[in-house]
Formats: sequence, structure tokens, C-alpha cells
Amino acid sequence: MDMKIRIAIDGPAAAGKSTIAKLVAGRLGYTYIDTGAMYRALTYKALQAGIDLEKAGEVEALLPGTQIILEPGADGQTVLLDGEDVTAVIRTAPVTNGVSAVSAHAGVRAYMVAEQRRMAREGGVVMDGRDIGTAVIPDAELKVFMTASVEERARRRHLENLARGFDSDPEQLAREIALRDKKDSERKVSPLIRAEDAVLLDTTDMSIEEAADAIIGLAGKKVG
Ligand code: CDP
Ligand code: CDP
Repeated sequence: MDMKIRIAIDGPAAAGKSTIAKLVAGRLGYTYIDTGAMYRALTYKALQAGIDLEKAGEVEALLPGTQIILEPGADGQTVLLDGEDVTAVIRTAPVTNGVSAVSAHAGVRAYMVAEQRRMAREGGVVMDGRDIGTAVIPDAELKVFMTASVEERARRRHLENLARGFDSDPEQLAREIALRDKKDSERKVSPLIRAEDAVLLDTTDMSIEEAADAIIGLAGKKVG
């Protein structure tokens, strides 16, 4: 593959976007960019500062003094917030449950989207999020909208939690996931929505390998 394309992967929570995007990027020799980590890092900062996440003005006032760096590594990416490694802490429940409020603010989105466009400029990227194919790279050569049933997504997150050494309740996870999807889909600015030209990939009955192979197959058609 000579030409380095831009691959946009959007979809609801726990559909498998980051796992599969990482695998695809590794196989193609591309850079993987997890845009959700940026919204999570800002949410973490706002929580640390004791800010009401629903208040746009207060959250947006943090932006000029904030530096979020995504460092691509062999095993995904490291997230640096104002120089501190927050890769693990941004995956905790308070951040996960607060992030949709933060990401709905127009000023937050404008800031993040501008940063993400800059990161994607040179091509050779697999970027995942909610608005990559609609707002960040609307002219991406390949767009994928990845879904799975909410029960399957909750089951996967539950297994992921167990592997990390803590228990969770799949039914509660399903409720939390459904609520976050609702907030992400109903917000006014660049909601989670399938771009018209995005290929729908339902991974409910697909393994990680099968989903990665499907995307690599689609990418091959774009460059060849
Ligand atoms: O990994 P998971 O699907 O749970 O979430 P994520 O990709 O880390 O994204 C966390 C949250 O950030 C989402 O629920 C959205 O509220 C927000 N987000 C967004 O608004 N736009 C993006 N491009 C990426 C994430
Ligand atoms: O990034 P997103 O929130 O869409 O999902 P993820 O964090 O990549 O995937 C959630 C969990 O589902 C991970 O533990 C994956 O290993 C697992 N997964 C799976 O079991 N089968 C798939 N086809 C895709 C993901």
C-alpha cells in the first residue's frame, strides 16, 4: 500500500473501536489516534478542579491552560495531561460517567476538533471517536461506523473489568452505556451519527480479528 489514507472509525461506547483501530493501525503501519482520550483527559482535569461539568463557561475556561498530548506507542497511546501521565486514570468510572457532559460543550468541541484535524493532516492515521467521519475528517478516504448490541457491549466491558481485576454488574454497565450513547447522540454540536458514506460494521457476532480484517479489506480497496 503506497498511499497513506485516513481511516475514520465512529460508533457508540464499547463497540470495539479502539481495540480494532489499534490493530488495523499496527498492521498498516499507521498511527492510531483515540480522540475519546482527549475528552476524558479534560473531564479528569475538571473533576480534579471541582468544576460543575454541566457549566460550559467553567469547563471551557480550563482550555487555554491545558495541554493534552497523545503519544503513540507500541501498545496504543499514552495520554499526557499538562505533563502528567493520565492514561489509566481517565478510564475510571467518575471520568466515564462525566465525559458526555464535557464533550457536549461547543467550545470544547471546537478546540478538540481543531487539534484532531492537525493530527490527521498528514494521513496514515486510524482515528476513532464519535464525530471523526462527520466533523473532524469529513473527507476521510475510509469511514466506518462500528456498532454492536448494547448487551454485547456491556458483556465485553464486564469481561474487560474482570481481566483488570475488578467485578462489575453487566446490567448496570448496559444502563450506563445506553445513557452515554443517548447523551452523545442527542447533543446539539456534532452528535454521534453515522455519516452517509460510512460503512456500517456490526461487530456483535464478529471477533476482533474478523472486524480488523474487514477494515483492512476496505482500506485495500481505497488505496489499490
Ligand atoms: O471507549 P469508549 O467508547 O467508552 O469512549 P471514548 O471513545 O473514550 O469516548 C468517551 C466520550 O468522549 C464519549 O462518550 C463522548 O462523549 C466523547 N467523545 C466525543 O464526543 N467525540 C469524540 N470524537 C470522541 C469521544
Ligand atoms: O473503543 P470502544 O469503546 O468502542 O471499544 P473497545 O474498548 O475497543 O472494546 C471494548 C471491549 O470489547 C474490549 O475489551 C475488546 O477487547 C472487546 N471486543 C470484543 O470482545 N470483540 C470485538 N469484536 C470487539 C471488541
